[in-house]
Amino acid sequence: MAVSFPRFLRVMASTAILLLLTISASAQSSSSWKEAYLKAEQAVSQLTLTDKVNVLTARCIGNTFAVPSIDFPGFCLEDSPLGVRLASNVSAFPAAINAASTFNRTLMRQRGEAMGAEFRGKGVNVALGPMMNLMRAPAAGRNWEGFGADPYLSGEGAFETITGMQSQGVQATAKHFVNNEQEHFRTTSTSDVDDRFFLRSVQAEVAAIMCSYNQINGTYACENDKTINGILKGEFGFQGYVMSDWGATHTTARAVLSGLDVTMPGDRVAGTNSSFFGTTLVSSVQNGTVPESRVDDMALRTLAAWYKLGQDQGYPPVNFDSHNNSAADDERVDVQGDHKVLIREIGKASTVLLKNTAGALPLTNIKTIGIIGNGAGPAARGPNGFPNRQGDDGVLAMGWGSGTATFPYLITPLDAITARAAQDGSTVTSSLSDTDLAAAATVASGKDVALVFITADSGEGSSPVEGNAGDRNNLQAWHNGDALVQQVAQSNLNTVVVVNSVGPIVVEAWIDHPNVTALVWSGLPGQEAGNSVTDVIYGAYNPSGRLPYTIGKSITDYPAQVIYTSPTPILSIPYSEGIFIDYRHFDAAGIAPRFEFGFGLSYTTFVYSGLSVRGSPRGGQAPTGPGSSLDPWLHDPVITVHFTVKNTGKVAGHEIPQLYVSLPASTNSPPRVLKGFDSVFITPGQTQGVTIQLSRFDVAMWDVVQQRWQVPAGKIGISIGASSRDIRLTGSL
Ligand SMILES: *[C@@H]1O[C@H](CO)[C@@H](O)[C@H](O)[C@H]1NC(C)=O
Ligand SMILES: *[C@@H]1O[C@H](CO)[C@@H](O)[C@H](O)[C@H]1NC(C)=O
Ligand SMILES: *[C@@H]1O[C@H](CO)[C@@H](O)[C@H](O)[C@H]1NC(C)=O
Ligand SMILES: *[C@@H]1O[C@H](CO)[C@@H](O)[C@H](O)[C@H]1NC(C)=O
Ligand SMILES: *[C@@H]1O[C@H](CO)[C@@H](O)[C@H](O)[C@H]1NC(C)=O
Ligand SMILES: *[C@@H]1O[C@H](CO)[C@@H](O)[C@H](O)[C@H]1NC(C)=O
Ligand SMILES: *[C@@H]1O[C@H](CO)[C@@H](O)[C@H](O)[C@H]1NC(C)=O
Repeated sequence: MAVSFPRFLRVMASTAILLLLTISASAQSSSSWKEAYLKAEQAVSQLTLTDKVNVLTARCIGNTFAVPSIDFPGFCLEDSPLGVRLASNVSAFPAAINAASTFNRTLMRQRGEAMGAEFRGKGVNVALGPMMNLMRAPAAGRNWEGFGADPYLSGEGAFETITGMQSQGVQATAKHFVNNEQEHFRTTSTSDVDDRFFLRSVQAEVAAIMCSYNQINGTYACENDKTINGILKGEFGFQGYVMSDWGATHTTARAVLSGLDVTMPGDRVAGTNSSFFGTTLVSSVQNGTVPESRVDDMALRTLAAWYKLGQDQGYPPVNFDSHNNSAADDERVDVQGDHKVLIREIGKASTVLLKNTAGALPLTNIKTIGIIGNGAGPAARGPNGFPNRQGDDGVLAMGWGSGTATFPYLITPLDAITARAAQDGSTVTSSLSDTDLAAAATVASGKDVALVFITADSGEGSSPVEGNAGDRNNLQAWHNGDALVQQVAQSNLNTVVVVNSVGPIVVEAWIDHPNVTALVWSGLPGQEAGNSVTDVIYGAYNPSGRLPYTIGKSITDYPAQVIYTSPTPILSIPYSEGIFIDYRHFDAAGIAPRFEFGFGLSYTTFVYSGLSVRGSPRGGQAPTGPGSSLDPWLHDPVITVHFTVKNTGKVAGHEIPQLYVSLPASTNSPPRVLKGFDSVFITPGQTQGVTIQLSRFDVAMWDVVQQRWQVPAGKIGISIGASSRDIRLTGSL
């Protein structure tokens, strides 16, 4: 039978009335997988084989075919983890690495909700985020798209983001499953490891999970029976669909039988019309290589996600053209709402104060201000001057690649500080060159404060930026930032350094310089960058951000590095550090970091007291088999940890208490692992009680032999700290 595919028709401009109806339709709250599967079973039973395959196959980037007989319009899939990519009149949110550094679940959730509302408003069915890959190698290019170096924090970030996005009826995609943690050789490398922290996304009932480009133990992630069928769909009981990264499908029958459900973007080879799915999948069913029941399951999973999110009713049709936002079929619908308020809020709550001596910050009684560095000002070509933000000019508020959005505007620190300074009648002088050290010295000299801005950028590996092919070449500040800071510090007693960066940079060249009085870590805060950092510098917001990774004294202190050259066609990446990523390695190996994971200063002080630990993880055991990782035995709260925190300083602020677990020595675990945190607002003199509950999962380990979770025998330590090293209270189970 010759199968002809209906040519995909993009949903064009709809009438204004329909648009009004659909945009104002209130967001559908998601229904249960069970209900969704009932509807999907009904729909799939009406489909021909070709129809079913069409649900799973894309012909152009980010779209699947429509199946008119069941009113299925096809999916529109769009990047990115920080906003709607390649669209106009959208917001540019803080990157996930900044969401992580808030250590605040409410803000993470609200960010997900706001992004979800924007994807929905543009008619996007499937948002290609959040990104969960860990910052195992500190220079890896896409680290900033995720939530940092700790699996628990990444899991919480993904959980809140997915829950927020899906509350708006948008399907979220947890990616990249799994072990895609550097850009060099991302399609030709094999990650030799086993890990399980994507479970948190499955608990958030994520619609889709994207398998990655790399191989795992020598088998491509999108045809890896063990990780997809075994772990994800088996042990984790994941009920949504697995979609390939763009071009990460390599076979038909093997991928399908290993658990791949949807292939993206559909072409086997870019520019050809043949697909590993499409007619190839149809004939594979016809000649018996793939059982049709498997295609039923694929269609069922995909349509169930569509029903679960309520997208079968009143979902806005696609109203933008990602290829050309000026084209006639792009309606330029403004979906920003008041999201800039939240963006500024997350921006300031994610700003980490790392050094503050002699009361340098917040700025008070300042009459003259020098602002130095390209990173304080605008980009010569404007905020979107480089395609996919592939350039580092002006204030750095996101990295580059597919993990980006178009800035609607970008507030520079220079503009925001100048506006704020005007309120005090103070004057601002600036030099925005990174290379003109003489001008830097002139601007810095004699001012009450010199603010120097430096950056470090990275992104998705394609064409390099300033010689960095996605992954950074090293952990130094870009544009010779160390020399700029040193020049300013030589010229001004009160030098405040502000860093906009994708991850850690080594600050050893100047951090102990007596004239460097403060270090402010602004990360990648999105469109309100200048306002957020100004709020913190002036004390309108008392800083509460915490590092979601360690800042080491040297790149060689980290346990894993990007591998830049490959001796073989397929690069083997040994994940020899195992679970000893970032602070877990620094702690285990006794290496002093410059600033540890979880660290951040405040303008006030907090005292911790009165730890109580109640309950026990002992008794019973996790079942084995399908869905066992979701079992209540594992996730019910069984331990209650309580303590109090008092604000002993003069200003109100948020403290971020962190709970670390120490498993018995016999388990060969890191000294401490994060398993809880909170963000509590406390006024001066006030005491707040903090309760953190733990489940067996938080103290359990995967037993490879028994194939189930086990709580290890022996004493389990509980540490409450203001960072991973600033431990204030200890107890045990
Ligand atoms: C929407 O974006 C276009 C640029 O694509 C711009 O000209 C227009 O002013 C924007 N409209 C709104 C309401 O922001
Ligand atoms: C990869 O190999 C390691 C070492 O043999 C093994 O422990 C792990 O389970 C394997 N993981 C996968 C997904 O094949
Ligand atoms: C793919 O299909 C389109 C539309 O049918 C056609 O114009 C184009 O030439 C085809 N490309 C290739 C490489 O076959
Ligand atoms: C079945 O069909 C597929 C797709 O056309 C083809 O690649 C495969 O070789 C066929 N297998 C057999 C046994 O005919
Ligand atoms: C985008 O669309 C506009 C309006 O149709 C057109 O003038 C312009 O040339 C298009 N740009 C590109 C790059 O195709
Ligand atoms: C600190 O700044 C002052 C004032 O410009 C300068 O005289 C002094 O040399 C600087 N200190 C160092 C160590 O550079
Ligand atoms: C999180 O941040 C918001 C906004 O600053 C704040 O109101 C709240 O107290 C913080 N903590 C939690 C747990 O929501």
